[in-house]
Amino acid sequence: MQILDGKQTSSTIQDEIAAEVAAIRSAGGKIPHLAAILVGNNPASEAYVRNKVKDCERVGFGSSLFRFDETISEEALLDKIREVNENAEIDGLIVQLPLPAHISAEKVTETLAPEKDVDGFHPVNVGRMAKNLPAYLPATPYGILELLKRYPIETSGKHCVVLGRSHIVGSPMSILMARNDNPGNCTVTLCHSRTKDLKAQTLQADILIAALGIPEFVKADMVKEGAVVIDVGITRVEDASKKSGFALRGDVAYDEVAPRCSWITPVPGGVGPMTRAALLLNTLDAAKRSFY
Ligand code: GUN
Repeated sequence: MQILDGKQTSSTIQDEIAAEVAAIRSAGGKIPHLAAILVGNNPASEAYVRNKVKDCERVGFGSSLFRFDETISEEALLDKIREVNENAEIDGLIVQLPLPAHISAEKVTETLAPEKDVDGFHPVNVGRMAKNLPAYLPATPYGILELLKRYPIETSGKHCVVLGRSHIVGSPMSILMARNDNPGNCTVTLCHSRTKDLKAQTLQADILIAALGIPEFVKADMVKEGAVVIDVGITRVEDASKKSGFALRGDVAYDEVAPRCSWITPVPGGVGPMTRAALLLNTLDAAKRSFY
């Protein structure tokens, strides 16, 4: 069994981006700038946004964080997004999810200018992705593709089973792994809460991508010998032995599953850092006007 080291790979990507920013700077070009909108004070969301800002600093990007109380009206939030759309200094914008119940995530997503939608959530970017046109890819699937590409893991002709059909991970992941591209060219099965005999499906997987958000759901008897296992889960569980008071748990029961795998991502240090690196790659493409 070998580890797919997302932390190391993400650090390499950050170094590559930093070198490109330095070159842009000396050529007098536009320094990439990412803006994040955070509504309320969900601790996980605060941590994600803090890390995104920190990552920008590390590679030399500019960044802006706009914070709002959870009582902000939907219209006021949409106005802020329209303002950022018009701000030529800002190349990419993310609105951290989840949002309070009185705000429609769909309206928020569709108000973002597609050319600044570095999360890849706008229907225009989702459609472009599905057609294999140049587009921002959602950060977690994009990060997983980069990880597979850089090791490299052969995906062509393999059976990829994706667990979870979220719009952020499972659904786009299933589309991307089936595309005629590298990584890609998989036969894909997308499983979800209504799937019957899940184990019969997961045992077929050469590549198993777990993105359901249920800690340690994938057990050893669900995994084929020699499979590549990608664990997207990062559920916070209380852990008094940790200084922070919590630990992160993946969707895979790592200790029992790892010995069966050819490759596996750890939690933490697997998919999480790759998601962060992918957002930086998208922001760089936004500044370079790569797709629009
Ligand atoms: N919440 C969980 N994942 C994401 C993500 O990739 N982007 C945003 N904006 N919010 C999230």
